[in-house]
Amino acid sequence: MSQRSPALSLKILAECSTTKARACQLVLPHSVVQTPVFMPVGTQGTLKGLLPEQLKDLDCQIMLSNTYHLGHRPGPELLEKAGGLHKFMNWDRSLLTDSGGFQMVSLLKLAEITEEGVKFQSPHDGSEMMLTPEHSIEIQNSIGADIIMQLDDVVHSCVTGPRVEEAMYRTIRWLDRCIKAHKRPHDQNLFPIVQGGLYPELRKKCAEELTKRDVPGFAIGGLSGGESKDDFWRMVTISTDVLPRQKPRYLMGVGFGVDLVVCAALGCDMFDCVYPTRTARFGSALTPTGLLNLSKKTFSKDYQPIDKDCKCSTCASYTRAYIHMVVNETVGCSLLTVHNVAYQLNLMRQVHQSIVDDKFPEFIRDFFLCLYPQKN
Ligand code: GUN
Ligand code: ZN
Repeated sequence: MSQRSPALSLKILAECSTTKARACQLVLPHSVVQTPVFMPVGTQGTLKGLLPEQLKDLDCQIMLSNTYHLGHRPGPELLEKAGGLHKFMNWDRSLLTDSGGFQMVSLLKLAEITEEGVKFQSPHDGSEMMLTPEHSIEIQNSIGADIIMQLDDVVHSCVTGPRVEEAMYRTIRWLDRCIKAHKRPHDQNLFPIVQGGLYPELRKKCAEELTKRDVPGFAIGGLSGGESKDDFWRMVTISTDVLPRQKPRYLMGVGFGVDLVVCAALGCDMFDCVYPTRTARFGSALTPTGLLNLSKKTFSKDYQPIDKDCKCSTCASYTRAYIHMVVNETVGCSLLTVHNVAYQLNLMRQVHQSIVDDKFPEFIRDFFLCLYPQKN
């Protein structure tokens, strides 16, 4: 089979001598990304409560957007007329779009999966709609993101039995349909997704099958849905053991600080999650010592910044007491979102740098000691 030239390049800058962690430079069509990287999530293009220029100020190089939402509004035609989502939303750095099936299955209880695709009732007019692998790629081609995802058959991580195996094999069949339908391999990178629930043999088999395809990178999906950390980390380990060293690995839907640090150690390069932005909307700030719930009355006279060592614009200018006062207002959400995204980006920068310096094990120890101080 002839090799397609990928629309990305991955340069491994350093590998940890103790864990499977790597520090890389990922060159995408719209920007250069240092990994491990956290990618903040926007739904209707932008993040809730944050403008693209604010994300740029945080030195964010890649963000996520949703096919399901954009496919509906503004829709593929308008997006193509606008010259793609980058132009439409005023974001000239990298974008990644998810395929939409996962969102539909997790958001809409009525979704039904058949070999053809994901059937669901439109939440807007109740009409029956079908998202097929071909249609998902068509929408993602018109959005124009740097990385696009295959449509996958996702089952909840706690489901057991033959349905898990069926979904894993269907995901591989859908990948082949996605590869065929993809019209822009020269400037958009299509990633397949490792599925297989919590079954080690299925995960391994899936990763091996995907590796046989000519794809520029890989994702690991179907995790972080309430399974034990033990199972979660074991499935990630099995997947990264099989996936090729020279290609990027994206762990989907993972965003707790602890999981980012551990899964970077297990060899994952990219992560996304709504956690930091959703947490901000609930009035909580991420800090190296844990969550601060600023809606609590104890902060009403606390004139310190959220985190004295944080370099974000919120911590430079606003106190905990002020944020407490506006916590239910749009500005409060915006101030907290800036800080929480800054926290995640900075955490990954520290991970990257410590791998380059071959001090990642020390970093992990300090990170956990700060989060869970020893009492004695
Ligand atoms: N987001 C989080 N997990 C998944 C997954 O397994 N598949 C897709 N498509 N998106 C996800
Ligand atoms: Zn801050």
